[in-house]
Amino acid sequence: MSKEKVPGSETIAVHWREEPLIRPQPEFVGQSNVSDPSIFERFSEDNFPECFDEYAQMLTWYKSWHQTLDSSNPPFYRWFVGGEINASFNCIDRHLPKRAGQVAFHFVPEPEDAPLVSITYQQLYWRVNEMAAMLREEFGLQRGDGVTLHLPMTLELPITMLACARLGVIHTVVFSGFSGRACGDRIVDSQSRLLITMDSYYRGGKLLDHKIKADEAVDHAAEGGHTPEKVLVFRREPGKYASDTPMHDGRDVFVDEILPRFKSREIEPEHMLAEDTLFLMYTSGSTGKPKGSQHSTGGYLAYAAGTSKYVLDIHPDDVYWCMADIGWITGHSYIVYGPLVLGTTSVLFEGAPNIPDTGRPWRVSEQLGVNILHTSPTAVRALRKAGTEVPAQYKYHFKSMTTVGEPIEPEAWRWYYEAVGKGKAVITDTWWQTETGGHLLSTLPAIHDMKPGSAGPALPGIYASILDDQGKDIKPGTSVAGSLCIRNPWPGRMLTIWRDDQRFIDTYYKRFCTNAESSDWRDWPYFAGDGAVQSADGYYRILGRLDDVINVAGHRLGTKELESSCLTVDVVVEAAVVAVPDEIKGVVPEVFVSLRTNIEASEEIEQRIKQAILDDIGPIAKPRNVWIVPDMPKTRSGKIMRRVLASLSAKKDPGDVSTLANPEIVEIIRVLVQK
Ligand code: WTA
Repeated sequence: MSKEKVPGSETIAVHWREEPLIRPQPEFVGQSNVSDPSIFERFSEDNFPECFDEYAQMLTWYKSWHQTLDSSNPPFYRWFVGGEINASFNCIDRHLPKRAGQVAFHFVPEPEDAPLVSITYQQLYWRVNEMAAMLREEFGLQRGDGVTLHLPMTLELPITMLACARLGVIHTVVFSGFSGRACGDRIVDSQSRLLITMDSYYRGGKLLDHKIKADEAVDHAAEGGHTPEKVLVFRREPGKYASDTPMHDGRDVFVDEILPRFKSREIEPEHMLAEDTLFLMYTSGSTGKPKGSQHSTGGYLAYAAGTSKYVLDIHPDDVYWCMADIGWITGHSYIVYGPLVLGTTSVLFEGAPNIPDTGRPWRVSEQLGVNILHTSPTAVRALRKAGTEVPAQYKYHFKSMTTVGEPIEPEAWRWYYEAVGKGKAVITDTWWQTETGGHLLSTLPAIHDMKPGSAGPALPGIYASILDDQGKDIKPGTSVAGSLCIRNPWPGRMLTIWRDDQRFIDTYYKRFCTNAESSDWRDWPYFAGDGAVQSADGYYRILGRLDDVINVAGHRLGTKELESSCLTVDVVVEAAVVAVPDEIKGVVPEVFVSLRTNIEASEEIEQRIKQAILDDIGPIAKPRNVWIVPDMPKTRSGKIMRRVLASLSAKKDPGDVSTLANPEIVEIIRVLVQK
């Protein structure tokens, strides 16, 4: 297989100093699900793949598997072969004998004066069954059909997902903030028979018209050659239509008008094969059309359960709050499937964490007794920006906290630990991807010490490597970064890219496959596309996407390294580094930072930032400019769009920015840098 050069995949020198380790609190260790390090022996390469039976045994199967892993046709793997299972049954029915009256979800609407809606496992059972009955009998959905859900963070979203899972219908959830066109593309690619949406929802202090996007989605899907049969419209408040967009005769139906006919109906869950598809989750890479990550039922669910139990350390009597949106993989694995399989109580929050003010997350946590918090570096930075002292005003008690989605700078990590966790909660920094289904790198919180900025070692049964451009292992502790790979299959990994096996191979396996004819998984390392460095103790630190690595006069620098350096200046809360063309050096770094609320930009702050970079990394990383900006352009999942900043710096057109979470910031920054 050809070894073409992937930009940024050569080795990268890093200058990070080692951060001191922080021990978890003994109270946490005492109650944890796993505190015995022998788990790593159980999951050693000698015990692979059968070690993963431990995760599958956390589930209830109709029929047990006869083979843990069929790896005869890499990179297409089948886990728990012969096993039969239903995800909806595992998330709901099996808890009823013990926990029918326990709350499954506390739904917290965005308006703070709106009442909390708590739904027990028993109530969830009925709502999922009624929905499943309606989907099957009114709309003819059958096992194997596809449905697109463009729903906001309300109870209807997990209920509909679980109703689909009950019937063996493949759900594709599209993040509610995505446009109608984006939704339409996914309807076409997934060949969905129905679009399920909602009239409106609260976000950012407003009631948004959401139905309008359904019309755009269907029109756009029709242009793409596939029209869904019906559009099912939930009303945010049943009976009260809050959208200005008319219903389309014969096509659009109100769910709350039909559903009462299915009251108290029970639907026997379909017995699905372990390798049957549970859902598709689209990822948009930097190039090409979105890829449908196709996830399995048994392997995915087992991996979501195992990691929820061992990494998030969820117990049935916890109150767990993951602030992600269910429209992303984090919400699928760690709001819906993992936590429900474990039978815990979760918070489902409709809104933005700063509405009406940044005290909101801590008030919710205080009121509901949240003891596990799960969020992203971008949310941590935003909450820190708005006020470092706010969490101290509230009496919540977290035992554990998680971060996911981007590398977290040690400074932001420390604030999360001290201010949010009050120096008591453990932090897991979980590295994984839509494609991987669940966490791959993280500390096990009762076993490992924490290291700010580093995700941690590979999880049990995950054999990770950092490879150089030639595919050779880079040894730990050398301060040389490379391409992060996983050498082995694991149960949560996507089955393939929906209807595009070749693209699956090309994207994730072609890069480092040592023998395309081989039927041995050892010849097929999974290429994650991230740069990383491993320290002598085995902890991995992620540099970010390899496409974001910059090359200054032949020196390769990870943008995250410079960004972390910026955050050592105490007034800086967010930093983004991009490469701009330079006649002499090829490219040079340019720095964008935003400051704490109420801090004025000044020459002095710029100097301190430059000095910090000089001290931490050296003159090679000297930025051409330091721009102090009010905010960074971000995707709707909160990732900083460095590409947009790079275009602005290079005085180029940033292209279509309408899909950003905050498109208006682009013009503000343009005026600043292009003046
Ligand atoms: C990045 C989100 C550093 C990484 C679950 C990865 C992280 C991409 C971390 C996947 C982390 C995720 N530390 N970087 N803890 N977690 N990433 O598909 O670049 O939305 O490849 O899945 O996010 O993003 P995705």
